[in-house]
Amino acid sequence: MDLVVVSNRVARGKANEPMTGGLAAALLPVVEKSGAIWVGSSGRVRDGAQKEPFAEIEALGAGALAMLDLPAAHYGGYYEGFANSALWPALHSRADLIRASEEDYRSYREVNAFMARALLRFRKPDTAFWIQDYHFLALGAELRELGVTQPVGFFLHTPWPAHGMIEGVPHHRELIEAMLACDLIGFQTDDDCENFLGCVQASLGLAVHDGVVKSRHGRTHVAVFPIGIDPEKFAQQAAKAASHPDVSRLRRSLNGEKLAIGVDRLDYSKGLINRINAFDRMWTTQPSLARSVSLLQIATPSRGAIEAYGNLQSELARLVGDVNGRHGEVDWTPIRYLNKGFGQTVLAGLYRTAQVGVVTPLHDGMNLVAKEYVAAQNPADPGVLVLSKFAGAANELDTALLVNPHDIDGMARAIATALSMPLTERRMRWEAMMTKLRAHTIQRWFSEFVEALQESGANKAAAEPLIAERPTLWPLRTVRSTARYQ
Ligand code: G6P
Repeated sequence: MDLVVVSNRVARGKANEPMTGGLAAALLPVVEKSGAIWVGSSGRVRDGAQKEPFAEIEALGAGALAMLDLPAAHYGGYYEGFANSALWPALHSRADLIRASEEDYRSYREVNAFMARALLRFRKPDTAFWIQDYHFLALGAELRELGVTQPVGFFLHTPWPAHGMIEGVPHHRELIEAMLACDLIGFQTDDDCENFLGCVQASLGLAVHDGVVKSRHGRTHVAVFPIGIDPEKFAQQAAKAASHPDVSRLRRSLNGEKLAIGVDRLDYSKGLINRINAFDRMWTTQPSLARSVSLLQIATPSRGAIEAYGNLQSELARLVGDVNGRHGEVDWTPIRYLNKGFGQTVLAGLYRTAQVGVVTPLHDGMNLVAKEYVAAQNPADPGVLVLSKFAGAANELDTALLVNPHDIDGMARAIATALSMPLTERRMRWEAMMTKLRAHTIQRWFSEFVEALQESGANKAAAEPLIAERPTLWPLRTVRSTARYQ
């Protein structure tokens, strides 16, 4: 079987270059090995006059990377507009930040249709298509419109919220219906999967049996595939990175002081304001921790043209300045705040240097930083992960110190607890997490999804009409019997 993987952002074959977001970084090594063709946006636009979509194609491991110039007239409405100002906030349960217009929706659909046409060039009789993430919710339906009968899978890297939230997205019904053109839809967690199936019933009135939805497109399997990392590789990188100049400079600058680390895209879903407030609270309520622990917060700018992101960047810079001004000393800066990205190797070394990893999103599909922080630790003297219970990773990493990212006092206490945790407890917690990471690697995630896609594509039944008139009140708990592939 030939595999074509599609995502908006792709990564070029250099793992040591800074990469924005977990999706591209996670996919790179597995796609590279698999021999798949990975198709995505080049980040450039082109006017619509050209006949053929323009793609720059380069070798990627045993396969290839194809980067498309997307249509200039629709790119803004698609990327900054519908994908990141309507879908992203809704998927992260931030109804207050949803901004949507008909024009943006049209652009989103145009880009999905454009991508479908571009993909035909890579189609062979035994090709399977695997679509990634919320940028392309309608791509499966567009492929079917063009006559594609091969298996089509979809994986959502973000959470899927409750029906009441997704209703805030104009055209949500159309989009959910379009997703059902896929043979297999994968989610990060049971909650996301249950929420999606709840929406399928509530919005479309379709019945769900054992994780299978029947629609006018035929049968769609819906299941959970929590994404992982390559923990052994990450551990090796972390051990090696100790001698990297950035890492040794950091170590030297600490003067025996302890370090907490946060690494995030600068995004409102990451809970950065609450995290800084928690450190502020900790230094205020436990002054003995001033000078003895500092925070290294890497916040890589992202989607800067969107108002909510610009506002967050200003608010964070002001808050960090305020906290440093109040708690700092002539020879001590409480928060080292960096607005740039780092390559994987340096990051691995930075994680290993820090006694505490703080991953406290308000909502997150999985959060691979949490997994990477754990894998990067020195087994003889591991650091402690402080993890939001609203990150998908909390399902597996349940021996981390789990926190509510809205509870500033609770987070402040958890960070202080992490700093003073005895070695035996740290090792016990860390070993339990490593066992999970080793059992659910990114390689396994990839191959299990592809296998399930092949199976569901092969079993695809004949199309059945969409039953829209009588909503089925299907009990959510039966979803628990949904196949769990990891
Ligand atoms: C998240 C999304 C990805 C996205 C990444 C970076 O991880 O799930 O689809 O690529 O953020 O965001 P950006 O808008 O910079 O591609």
